Amino acid sequence: MPNNTDTQKKLYIKTWGCQMNVYDSSRMADILRPLGYAQVDEPDGADMMILNTCHIREKATDKVFSEIGRLKKHKDEKEAKGGKMLMAVAGCVAQAEGDFILKRAPAIDMVFGPQTYHELPEMVLKANGNERVVNTEFPSVTKFDTLPEEQNQGAAAFLSIQEGCDKFCTFCVVPYTRGAEYSRPVDKIVDEAKRLVDNGAKEITLLGQNVNAYHGESKDGKVRGLGQLIEEISGINGLQQIRYTTSHPRDVDQELINAHRDVEKLAPFLHLPVQSGSDKILKVMNRKHTADRYREIIAELRAARSDLVFSSDFIVGFPGETDQDHEDTMQLIRDVGFASAYSFKYSARPGTPAANMTNLVREDVKSARLLELQNLVTEQYLEFNQASVGKTMSVLFERKGRYEGQLQGRTPFYQAINVPANDRLLGEFVDVEITEATANALVGEVKIIENIAKSA
Ligand code: 5AD
Ligand code: SF4
Repeated sequence: MPNNTDTQKKLYIKTWGCQMNVYDSSRMADILRPLGYAQVDEPDGADMMILNTCHIREKATDKVFSEIGRLKKHKDEKEAKGGKMLMAVAGCVAQAEGDFILKRAPAIDMVFGPQTYHELPEMVLKANGNERVVNTEFPSVTKFDTLPEEQNQGAAAFLSIQEGCDKFCTFCVVPYTRGAEYSRPVDKIVDEAKRLVDNGAKEITLLGQNVNAYHGESKDGKVRGLGQLIEEISGINGLQQIRYTTSHPRDVDQELINAHRDVEKLAPFLHLPVQSGSDKILKVMNRKHTADRYREIIAELRAARSDLVFSSDFIVGFPGETDQDHEDTMQLIRDVGFASAYSFKYSARPGTPAANMTNLVREDVKSARLLELQNLVTEQYLEFNQASVGKTMSVLFERKGRYEGQLQGRTPFYQAINVPANDRLLGEFVDVEITEATANALVGEVKIIENIAKSA
């Protein structure tokens, strides 16, 4: 949580993109805290501003430059008053563009990639000495070995267990910006999970770009997969719910399926991106599985835990995608049924193999396919959400709601929910009866209050 006193230097971090970036931003704040930086919510008057960027969206680099242009006025204002503001670009755009950012944006003092955050103190020292810093190495001493201890993240905490990706899907920049797959050792993760729980975490989300490719070493020298890691973490007293994201169908192994069967604390929700339902497109995407294999994995997981629900990512309009290929994707969606989904029009990312492919799909065709797909998945979420009405679920209240007297949280199935509730329930798992549903969110009523009222 941002806090700040006058004697502290103000740190403003703006974050784009995935949970991994949100997590990285909080770790950057942890590293900078001993140097006297306290996080603030507004850029105005900050002593350091970090733009933690994401490269996955279209025109990501252009968007970063326009954001630099917009935020630079705070630096100019501060300098006009004789002050100093360090301005940095971090994250995947920093990794991909490096020097180019320094050349094009004179306001920027530091550019550093996701694997170098632990070197921030040295970078800040240099930048304070008016040296412009670019750091896009993949250092041999990993940041995981040197980052300071995890700070209190509240009731719903994130824990990074794996980073990078060796899959090389032909459309994706991640293997280039985040580098090769790396799994943290089991003991370090378990220790960190215990610390998070000691500091109030009730739910932990295990994070990784390719989280179920996890293969970390344990004390006995043996390598453990994600299923075993989840089993081990589930033994921590006080931890009530475990999630993991983002996973790849290829790495769903029997142990992970068993974990869904055996570990009650593992939430009944799984984000398992498939991208396409056409075998031809899956092949050119280098996804290394067929649509039927995806259906089988879903069936195996559902057999292990019958209430498990799925969400996915889809790309429409990949080069060479025909109407029939798109229809195959629609059929896969009908067959599986998703509780939520993210869908994107394909767009080329420089440096990826797909960027050189021909047989491009016209923009208007992509837009029509996207709309059709989104309509279908919206129907599916609405159906799923409506089927929740009348049920009672254990909701973790993560934050205050948009309206006074409301709290916001998630059901075990990752549905967003707003509930009229007392602030003292913030950070607690509470039984909530679902009363209303839209495609985006649920509304519910706290059950516990009634019991307290009755027993009072
Ligand atoms: N074009 C469109 N969508 C993409 N994604 C990744 N790269 C691209 C691209 N070049 C989507 C995928 C991935 C999600 C995080 O972003 O669906 O799962
Ligand atoms: Fe990108 Fe594919 Fe790796 Fe996911 S599995 S991060 S889409 S290369």
